[in-house]
Amino acid sequence: MSALKPLIAGNWKMVGLPADLKSFADAMRAWSGGSRGGLLICPPATLLAAAVQAFDGLPIAVGGQDCHAKASGAHTGDIAAPMIAAAGGTFVIVGHSERRADHGETDAQVKAKAEAALAAGLTPIICIGESLAQRQAGETLAVVETSLRGSLPSGDLARVVVAYEPVWAIGTGLTANADQIAEVHAHLRKVLLSIDGTGAAVKLLYGGSVKPGNAAEILATPDVNGVLVGGASLVAADFQAIASACPV
Ligand code: PGA
Repeated sequence: MSALKPLIAGNWKMVGLPADLKSFADAMRAWSGGSRGGLLICPPATLLAAAVQAFDGLPIAVGGQDCHAKASGAHTGDIAAPMIAAAGGTFVIVGHSERRADHGETDAQVKAKAEAALAAGLTPIICIGESLAQRQAGETLAVVETSLRGSLPSGDLARVVVAYEPVWAIGTGLTANADQIAEVHAHLRKVLLSIDGTGAAVKLLYGGSVKPGNAAEILATPDVNGVLVGGASLVAADFQAIASACPV
């Protein structure tokens, strides 16, 4: 683990009703444990403002799961970065592989979204990752480098977070092993440093089937500055166990 303060981020995806938020917040309020990492929950947009209220007084930031590249306009169903900020959000995930697959999002669009996030004062979490076919073809480093270069906002990178999420590890129960994660993260760090001096400040998260049982090993992997957790972040006890794997 480098000197960067780790980030333990939860992505609830299209899961969660008000009652789920309430029981999660109650469990977090009752939690006697601690974490050296910053905590973040990205609930569905319908719960964003309610989550900010529910976590009031707790050290848990709230973020969106996506934003539009424009600040406002005729884009039915989309959410703009300033709306997330106005609801009390401070982060937004952009370029998640499910958005890239379901909505055909390109690196150029992800870059525009990341720039919109920064303009609204949000911290973008830019997701990149290879498919199983790309890994098997030995293309992983080239794929993630191309996607990283294409998805990063221009200019200062100090407020940017990058999440390496191998597509084959998301929601599958398969996790990249520590050597695979270390290899990719070292490469991403090298690329970031070559782009801008502020690349050293970029937190590199790992995501893909992070669970209480593997979090400690992943968080101890070189150049891993936190985790992006899907399924396990829906269960407060699991999220707490993952956060605790980042020792106080
Ligand atoms: P998972 O999802 O933890 O359920 O694999 C991770 C993610 O998509 O961010």
